[in-house]
Amino acid sequence: MANLENDGFFAEEVRRTMGESDLFLADGLAATEEKIAEILGADLPFITEVLRYAAGSGGKRFRPRLTLLSAATAGIDQKRVAGLAACMEGIHLATLLHDDVIDEAPLRRGRPATHRRFGNHLSILGGDYILTRVFQYLAKEVRNWEILNVAVATTNRMVAGEFLEMWRQERLDVAEDDYVKMITLKSAKLLEASCQVGAIAAGYDGCEYGAFTDYGLNTGISFQITDDCLDLAGEGEVLGKEGFADIRSGKITLPVIYGLTSPRGREIGAAVQAIWEGESVEHELVRALKEGGAFEKSRATARAYAEKGKDALTSVPPGEARDFLAAIADWTWCRKY
Ligand code: FPP
Ligand code: MG
Repeated sequence: MANLENDGFFAEEVRRTMGESDLFLADGLAATEEKIAEILGADLPFITEVLRYAAGSGGKRFRPRLTLLSAATAGIDQKRVAGLAACMEGIHLATLLHDDVIDEAPLRRGRPATHRRFGNHLSILGGDYILTRVFQYLAKEVRNWEILNVAVATTNRMVAGEFLEMWRQERLDVAEDDYVKMITLKSAKLLEASCQVGAIAAGYDGCEYGAFTDYGLNTGISFQITDDCLDLAGEGEVLGKEGFADIRSGKITLPVIYGLTSPRGREIGAAVQAIWEGESVEHELVRALKEGGAFEKSRATARAYAEKGKDALTSVPPGEARDFLAAIADWTWCRKY
């Protein structure tokens, strides 16, 4: 198991480095915002209203950061890949519009989710609109088959991952491998793709390209494990979304999988069943998970994936951009938001 000593100091270091990466990426992120506005630009005012609302609430811009940094390791001007970074954020945004309908999530990024403001139908159509605009931009403006294939194939995998998650709904017998497969498809694949498109644009191939694939995938798995821990034990105000969405919608995540085989397993199983029957015992569940060591163990697993992602970076040219990619991998397992 990963060594979790001195976590406080480590987390502070990571927070500082992430702040520095904001400076390093300032021009690239500003150009990405312009491209997001361009790609999402709609020809009908009522579509614009929905899209502006959905896109206007900020977010970490995590996927664009990966694209910009991956290309920057080869010295590519960040502005040259801002369109690709915007496409990755667009795919993310489109899938969130659908996901919040599926999860019946009330909040996203600190305000009512788009479906709460405009209804399920417009939220789903908004997601479809964004997705088709992204593919149109890639086909018409970027005109690189390899990049288009990564974007389309990744979106397809995300849908498969979401299917898989729904397939497992309200089942307690989800194995760790099944869970990792599911989060790989629905979430980590887009982080992998965000690195890949930056790497393709930078002209990488062979083992260097493979390094971005490995880095993105493993960092992505770490990111989603942490996301799932935060859904149960994070601070809603910091996250900008309401907690317990996964468990209330019948989804078992890694801390629960670990908790079920911990000494508190019987109690945890009963609490989960009770939540699925509509009882409000979420806080009791979280207490039992904490006491059974389930969050600690999940965090160690997330860290192990992040370390694997960092190891892959040894095949990437050294420099500031690579250092920030390594810092992002650390951030994925110790983040609070
Ligand atoms: C968030 O997970 C959801 C995803 C990462 C993927 C969602 C994918 C789809 C809905 C299918 C594809 C959709 C389109 C438009 C092609 P989460 O619910 O664990 O995270 P959250 O807490 O942020 O909601
Ligand atoms: Mg969700």
